[in-house]
Amino acid sequence: MTLHRKTHTFEEVLKHNKTEDCWVIISGKVYDLTSFIEEHPGGAEVLLAATGKDGTSDYDAAGHSDYAIEMMEKYYIGKIDTTNVPLTRIYTPPEQDQHSAYMTSEYVIKFLQFLFPLLILGLVFAVRYYTKKE
Ligand code: HEM
Repeated sequence: MTLHRKTHTFEEVLKHNKTEDCWVIISGKVYDLTSFIEEHPGGAEVLLAATGKDGTSDYDAAGHSDYAIEMMEKYYIGKIDTTNVPLTRIYTPPEQDQHSAYMTSEYVIKFLQFLFPLLILGLVFAVRYYTKKE
């Protein structure tokens, strides 16, 4: 793969974040793992999770063998323009929407949990008020 070894911008790498088009940044180098993703012994998910950001710490944390390091050369497509690479993911995947919907309902439940004791308290006072009158 010596075809297009050039310096890629982060914006460009960001677009390749799918199983059928997967680029990962490791130690300042860009790897096109599209043809490897389904065969990756660590699974496709971890590679996808390493897209859209600097995947170096994820890669290092997995602890790869010398054999894995040798393999990488095959997928190397160029260097990354390091001026604006975030260490964490800035791309928001669609799952985030479901997550925020879940968060909203969680807040509603928390709010109701807070409101319920107040209702009981109000009820107690109302009962006391009316029973006193009688
Ligand atoms: C060019 C990039 C990569 C290549 C060629 C590669 C290759 C390999 C190979 C050959 C293995 C088998 C174990 C070994 O020989 O070390 C492996 C395991 C693994 N890889 Fe990768 N990998 C790459 C990138 C990544 C990235 C970015 C991550 C992100 C987390 C990752 C996570 C893992 C994990 C979790 C395992 C399983 C380790 C285990 O079960 O002990 N790999 N990889």
